[in-house]
Amino acid sequence: MVVVSSVRRDGCPAAPAAPDGPPTAASPPHSPIATLGHLLQPDRMRVSHLTFSLAVAALTLLICSCEKAPSTAQPAPPPAPVAEPSKPVLDEAQKKMFQALPENFGTATEARVTLGRTLFHDARLSASQDISCNSCHTLANYGVDGQPTSTGFKGHKGGRNSPTVFNAAGHASQFWDGRSPHVEDQAKGPVLNPGEMAIKDDKAAVDILRSIPGYLPLFTAAFPEEKVAITWETYARAVGAFERQLVTPSRFDAWAKGDDQALTEDEQKGALLLMQTGCMGCHNGPLVGGTGFQKVGAVTPWPNQNDHGRQDLTKALADDMMFKVPSLRNVDKTAPYFHDGQTATLPEAVKMMARHQLGRELSDVEVASIVAFLKTLTGELPQALIAAPELPPSGPRTPKAIKG
Ligand code: HEC
Ligand code: HEC
Repeated sequence: MVVVSSVRRDGCPAAPAAPDGPPTAASPPHSPIATLGHLLQPDRMRVSHLTFSLAVAALTLLICSCEKAPSTAQPAPPPAPVAEPSKPVLDEAQKKMFQALPENFGTATEARVTLGRTLFHDARLSASQDISCNSCHTLANYGVDGQPTSTGFKGHKGGRNSPTVFNAAGHASQFWDGRSPHVEDQAKGPVLNPGEMAIKDDKAAVDILRSIPGYLPLFTAAFPEEKVAITWETYARAVGAFERQLVTPSRFDAWAKGDDQALTEDEQKGALLLMQTGCMGCHNGPLVGGTGFQKVGAVTPWPNQNDHGRQDLTKALADDMMFKVPSLRNVDKTAPYFHDGQTATLPEAVKMMARHQLGRELSDVEVASIVAFLKTLTGELPQALIAAPELPPSGPRTPKAIKG
């Protein structure tokens, strides 16, 4: 459903590029919006200009009338309203609840980030030599594999959905149950996890790295202060340094920093509804989540009780069904949802949250409004960082793959 109640900043298709030659869409007096304005005062225009303007206006109307253009000739619809700036929907105090992303979650030298990026893609750190971090956290796919739960060594199916690595470095802790404090620590987990990359132990992992001749100069450049450059620690610090750069600012951030035009009024209404419904009691901070743990099924028990979250870790009764509140950054791109990956669509996930966390049944219109806002959290992927690196070639001592 597309309602063109005002000309949305991002909504109706981009201004049609000028057919050929000047005037271009970039020159303000000839943009379709300005052109419609001029049409209201034709006496100020030359005839040839008018002809061109009419052509552009017609093209604009054609595109902006969107999906269901009537198939038979009908009287021309009234001219589309001239663009009105979005009015701020939230007051200042409400808007303060929304925070922009930082530029990164910790700076590092280019050499260290490049090394981390290379390691992130290196499948030789898996026993079958065909699984890298990027297999389950595909960077070009918003850092997820799109599966309910991931597939690791020998086709092993894990029990949890793989969360995105974008902005993950900004979480208060790592994993759905928060069992790791930060990305540097987390990076050691998957390599040694028998169901994921399945390397025997940290010594074996370091041996693999030392067997690849091209890694020594990369590690030395990244850790010039270390006597021994290639260690389990420097491996983890490099991967962490890379992940700390995986930040995805979006239009939302421009809005949170004060540009009211960056979000349409409908999107701002969605932000207000997210707040007023109570979602931000749990999903808050610059990541719109990632700040702590909450019981899933706080009001109405969660349907899937197979995984008890933090309780499996701490054995404390109070931790039953406690999971990390995930960030909602890029959430439109990271389906399926929840720790078990059992929920396929975002509207469904929003409905379940309202029901199970807040005891509320949201109408379809309310869900659509919240989803419209959540989509503004889809950021731009940092292309230079996500590009696949060139991997240094194996040496004679590099282990052969163990067939999965
Ligand atoms: C076989 C698939 C798989 C591979 C390979 C894998 N991961 Fe993961 N990753 C997951 C799953 C599943 C989780 C969630 C597990 C949990 O919470 O218990 C996860 C969690 C994470 C998290 C925590 C994010 C958050 O929101 O809490 C980070 C960071 C991460 N992985 C980075 C990496 C890195 C770095 C590598 C490579 C060294 C890697 N992963 C390899 C599947 C994988
Ligand atoms: C009481 C705390 C709490 C409230 C209130 C809450 N959530 Fe959540 N939310 C969580 C937790 C915890 C999870 C992770 C649950 C899991 O996967 O087990 C989650 C997960 C999600 C997810 C899935 C994200 C992903 O990557 O899988 C979405 C979407 C979401 N919440 C949106 C909302 C919306 C929208 C609202 C308001 C209607 C809301 N939440 C209210 C705690 C809360």
